[in-house]
Amino acid sequence: MEKIEKTFVMFKPGCLQRRIVGEVLNRLERKGLKIIALKMLHMNRAMAEAHYAEHRGKDFYEKLLEYTVSGPVIAMVLEGDEAIALVRRLAGPADFHESLPGTIRGDFAARTRLNIIHASDSAASAEREMALFFKAGELCSWEDGNARWF
Ligand code: CDP
Ligand code: MG
Repeated sequence: MEKIEKTFVMFKPGCLQRRIVGEVLNRLERKGLKIIALKMLHMNRAMAEAHYAEHRGKDFYEKLLEYTVSGPVIAMVLEGDEAIALVRRLAGPADFHESLPGTIRGDFAARTRLNIIHASDSAASAEREMALFFKAGELCSWEDGNARWF
């Protein structure tokens, strides 16, 4: 049984800084995920705190916030069958010692904090994060009907 889900993904500032936005996005599209919202923005401290609220007080929290606001990010909502777990698998684990080649983090990140991509870890996180970055009217649903012609 298909379980079509929406998930929130954010390309951290390193993606733009390193000019790898296209390459990383390609991995997600190639897997069949559907982009239904996409924007570029420079998060301020308050927004970064809201996004990473669960990590407040941890030893890496301040540095994580600094990195998150160090440049613009690309925020998006992706849709697909079991999209939440799927994107987490494509991203790989946060810890750079554990992220294997073939995953986005495994291939592009050599520091845990600078692991270039954020992806929602549950349906509840996806809802919360989508609402933080997008208004309901900014999500575009669309059909793949013409895909067979190219
Ligand atoms: O991003 P993900 O949900 O996979 O991992 P997390 O454990 O929720 O941590 C959030 C983010 O904090 C990570 O993606 C890293 O950027 C950063 N982090 C860090 O800098 N040092 C750690 N020891 C753990 C996480
Ligand atoms: Mg997390």
